Amino acid sequence: MSPTLDTTDAPHVAPGLGFPAGPSAEPSELGWPETVSRETSTSANPAPAALGSSADSDAETGSTSSVPVVDDTDPATPDDREERAVIAAAIPGADWNTPLAQAVAEDERKRVTLSGRSVPRPPRTRVMTVANQKGGVGKTTTTVNIAAALAQAGSTVLVIDLDPQGNASTALGIDHHSEVPSVYDVLVDGAPLGDVVQPCPDLPGLVCAPATIDLAGAEIELVSLVARETRLQKAVAAYVEERTASGDRLDYVLVDCPPSLGLLTVNAFVAGQEVFIPIQCEYYALEGLSQLLKNIELIRSHLNPALHVSTILLTMYDGRTRLSAQVADEVRAHFSEQTLRATVPRSVRISEAPSHAQTVMTYDPNSSGALSYLEAAVEIAERGAADDTTEESA
Ligand SMILES: Nc1ncnc2c1ncn2[C@@H]1O[C@H](COP(=O)(O)OP(=O)(O)O)[C@@H](O)[C@H]1O
Ligand SMILES: [Mg+2]
Repeated sequence: MSPTLDTTDAPHVAPGLGFPAGPSAEPSELGWPETVSRETSTSANPAPAALGSSADSDAETGSTSSVPVVDDTDPATPDDREERAVIAAAIPGADWNTPLAQAVAEDERKRVTLSGRSVPRPPRTRVMTVANQKGGVGKTTTTVNIAAALAQAGSTVLVIDLDPQGNASTALGIDHHSEVPSVYDVLVDGAPLGDVVQPCPDLPGLVCAPATIDLAGAEIELVSLVARETRLQKAVAAYVEERTASGDRLDYVLVDCPPSLGLLTVNAFVAGQEVFIPIQCEYYALEGLSQLLKNIELIRSHLNPALHVSTILLTMYDGRTRLSAQVADEVRAHFSEQTLRATVPRSVRISEAPSHAQTVMTYDPNSSGALSYLEAAVEIAERGAADDTTEESA
């Protein structure tokens, strides 16, 4: 016979919690009956049973509940399969109309259509500056994951870490302690990029020019140097030529900018043709965007006529909030051509990956974050292959 819940005897168990109904519980030294949990009550102090209406009425009337309680210390424990079946049947079923199930299906579609695919090569090396003067919007995350996704799809990629924090170098597993030859040597001492790039351990085809902490001083040191705005551009052009001449042409150069519009970012704008702006789907996302666009316009009219915003990616998108949808709608209304169809969700796996010196593309390639970056990378590659301005402006 399965034991039943009796709310009139002390001690007893809270309905449905599965605690043993200890018929012989003695009060402990603290005055609590030994088998009693916080959810249980004594007859002198009946439980304000908070576990649903049937429990409420049982507690009030003192009637016997029909909820069976299994004592697993009792060798004569009855087979609980029936009880489990009842509980299992009470759990809501997976309905393909729920947002979670739809997200799972969407990820599966991306995995089936995109994983392991190769992407078309651009007609010329595409130099893309990943910029947004706001911090924490996903510039570094976007740079390393798009670079990794492109490399996994067969492209050759150079990542230039232009942020003294060196987060892109960390995420790509690249050594960047203060003695390592770095972008600082390129900008300040005129070292060739080829002397400082390191291969990324997990991703064949991807090399990275690391940033060390020295780069923090470069912003000031550059001020007094000749051709201070074009130093990166010259180094990139020479390296691209060197790679092309050696028969190992680079498809993409992605420059990860610091969160400012200082000389480092200006160097990045002069070095490339394309600006790639990640926009975080948050309230303040669009503030500062007009300042960024004004600066791009200034660079374009004075230093680099080929510069244009080619790509916008919505990051940390949360489909459950109206705010994300509003930001996305607004961005798409203003930049319909530039904004990628793919959006990147807020994802724990994306934020965990750098602590393992990895991109999410290698850390958890089947996660929704990795699949979204893969989708974005494929879109970037396909647009570049279709768009002949890539060639003209190169
Ligand atoms: N899609 C995402 N989901 C969850 N966390 C993210 C996502 N994108 C970025 N992050 C996290 O947000 C923080 C800021 O991102 P980061 O790429 O460093 O921004 P930025 O380079 O613009 O300063 C990092 O801790 C990063 O791991
Ligand atoms: Mg960054």
